[in-house]
Amino acid sequence: MSRKFAWLAILLIATVIIVGCGGEKTIKIAAIAPMTGYSAKMGEDLSRGVQLAVDEWNTKGGVLGQQIELMIEDDRADPKDAVSVANKAASYEVVGVVGHYNSSCTIPASNIYSENNIIMITPASTNPMVTDQEHPVVFRTCGRDDQQGKVEADYSTKVLGAKKIAVLHDKTTYGQGLADEFKKNLPSDGVEVILYEGISIDDKDFSAVLTLAKSLEPDLLMFGGLYSQGGLIVKQMRSLGMESIFLSGDGVYDSEFIRIGGDAAEGTYVSYAVSPDKIPTAQKFLKNFRSRWPEVGPYSLFSYDAANIILKGIELAKSTDGEKVAEAIHKNSFEGAIGHIEFDHKGDPVVSPYVMWQVQDGKWVQLEWDPKG
Ligand code: ALA
Repeated sequence: MSRKFAWLAILLIATVIIVGCGGEKTIKIAAIAPMTGYSAKMGEDLSRGVQLAVDEWNTKGGVLGQQIELMIEDDRADPKDAVSVANKAASYEVVGVVGHYNSSCTIPASNIYSENNIIMITPASTNPMVTDQEHPVVFRTCGRDDQQGKVEADYSTKVLGAKKIAVLHDKTTYGQGLADEFKKNLPSDGVEVILYEGISIDDKDFSAVLTLAKSLEPDLLMFGGLYSQGGLIVKQMRSLGMESIFLSGDGVYDSEFIRIGGDAAEGTYVSYAVSPDKIPTAQKFLKNFRSRWPEVGPYSLFSYDAANIILKGIELAKSTDGEKVAEAIHKNSFEGAIGHIEFDHKGDPVVSPYVMWQVQDGKWVQLEWDPKG
């Protein structure tokens, strides 16, 4: 080989090595939620919200002059998997995480993020413990079950007039936690909890516990759990001839609940956030999201805002250091698709209203009732 060709070959190899090593530095953020298993639809909804935000930032040139790389990971709604993917995110030097979905995953994973100085904003985990641990890097864009449980208890007794109440929960941090908040907020006079039972997260046949519940003739059955089991429970209640009102929380608010429950889902109630269709600042997000994907999930909007807050926090802090970004998020307020967002010292949004919804003609409809009224 001539000397000229030898030099050209060296130059070519060096170029391949530099490009191959990813000469372009990126800022990494992650969307972590159940992508498989019984809550898989929630992971898809969440990651799409984050993807939309990341794509918008990258089109505008990224953040701090770098493109944003999105890592999507599956925690399978399992606390152990949640901890291992949290550790994986830490080893990838992720700056911020939007996730997780289930409170049972978010709480143990948040300890890993805190130890590794990684920002975590959950768009969906409503259990009080998520922020009551007061990790400075931990935030949520959704509300809390102590607020949600009170709204459900007030609606059940003041509006629906329930006096004999059965409570079922899925024994998870979220499901049991919400059932307990509901129970705690029931009036002590004239209202009786006649059944309080846990079911296993893997159960599909609830005939034994529902037969018992039916024999006690409750006016209302409150379920603390998720849409996949909620849909089966309401279906089995009606096929056993049990006519009690079915009422649940944000974990049941999804089109899948109506699909699984079929006609039995008609007339059921849940507490959940205000419809984005009624929020003026959410309209652009809704249009852009719907131009890419068919359905905006219950937590897609909260995930989009969470990703935007992490990226804006990096921009404001002029740093990817978790502590500095957390400080910027605490000190500033944000104009999200959901509206004005600012966080209290724990990392909870200062405003996060819950309202009641009902299935009417096979669709979720937000009810006019004002919880404060
Ligand atoms: N809000 C539900 C939870 O906290 C999804 O697990």
